[in-house]
Amino acid sequence: MAKQTTLDRNLTIEAVRVTEAAAIAAAETMGRGDEKIADQAAVDAMRTALNRLHMDGTVVIGEGERDEAPMLFIGEKVGTGKGPKIDIALDPLEGTTITAKGMPNGLAVLALAEDGMLLNAPDVYMDKIAAGPQVPAGAIDLDNTPGENIANVAKALGKAPKDVVACILDRPRHAELIAAVRAAGARIVLIGDGDVAGVMATAMPETGVDIYMGTGGAPEGVLAAAALRCIGGNIQGRLLFRNDAERGRAAKVGVQDLSRKYEITDLAAGDVIFAATGVTDGNMLQGVRRTATMLSTESVAMRARTGTVRWIRMQHPIGK
Ligand code: FBP
Repeated sequence: MAKQTTLDRNLTIEAVRVTEAAAIAAAETMGRGDEKIADQAAVDAMRTALNRLHMDGTVVIGEGERDEAPMLFIGEKVGTGKGPKIDIALDPLEGTTITAKGMPNGLAVLALAEDGMLLNAPDVYMDKIAAGPQVPAGAIDLDNTPGENIANVAKALGKAPKDVVACILDRPRHAELIAAVRAAGARIVLIGDGDVAGVMATAMPETGVDIYMGTGGAPEGVLAAAALRCIGGNIQGRLLFRNDAERGRAAKVGVQDLSRKYEITDLAAGDVIFAATGVTDGNMLQGVRRTATMLSTESVAMRARTGTVRWIRMQHPIGK
């Protein structure tokens, strides 16, 4: 029996109620071409749902710093204020552009952890590498060349490098990485946005993705680490700073070693609950569906302590 933690097991289902609410609200705005409206709808709904939870919650990964985000900012207290102290990482809408354009893999995402167990990551870029549970820790490393990482993953999975599939955000900054992965013989899935789903795909064989590589948001790195703590797999991250203002953000949240290589448990330690609901259709979750009478969502809820993964299909008669 895994050790008891301050996270009540019922919070797993409560977390899904929160991501469902955010996803439903965001989906209403799908394809309108307005990222702000999509994000705002998700933030409002997630905050309302979070404030119903019986906990003394603090947002540690949120919508931004207090002066730039009016809601779900870093440090905001959420929940009823009674109950266990919980640190929260959230992204009410992971994939604002995706949703505004009606493209795949928009998610509402939430992670709950024991007090002090999540990296308070500044809103800067993070270099990331991740692979699923079949790839042993140590086989992938940010300090390896892309070719070494591909060869190690191929060996661990018993495949030829040409059968290894890497997921990479489609960005000009990744031109060199993409060329190196191609030179190593591997195949690539380029995604437009949404690297939490990209990292999670490495732990879900049905997606066909074996390794995630490249630079994305640091907050998304913590959320992805929380997910992998539950489903298995490994991720490393290193913060990247483009200027002094970004270095200042790191200082504000207490990051001292700016070049540190974070292992998965440096990003998310202890017991963790992770929930995600599909906003738009994706390779992991279907997006929100609405008929004249019924609203339906698909979610996943999981917990590090038990390793339980629940796939939850919710149907809600409209008007009830
Ligand atoms: P948003 O939902 O905040 O738009 O983030 C989408 C995303 O693709 C993340 O998944 C990723 O980590 C980050 O943006 C990458 O940043 P950029 O678009 O600047 O390359």
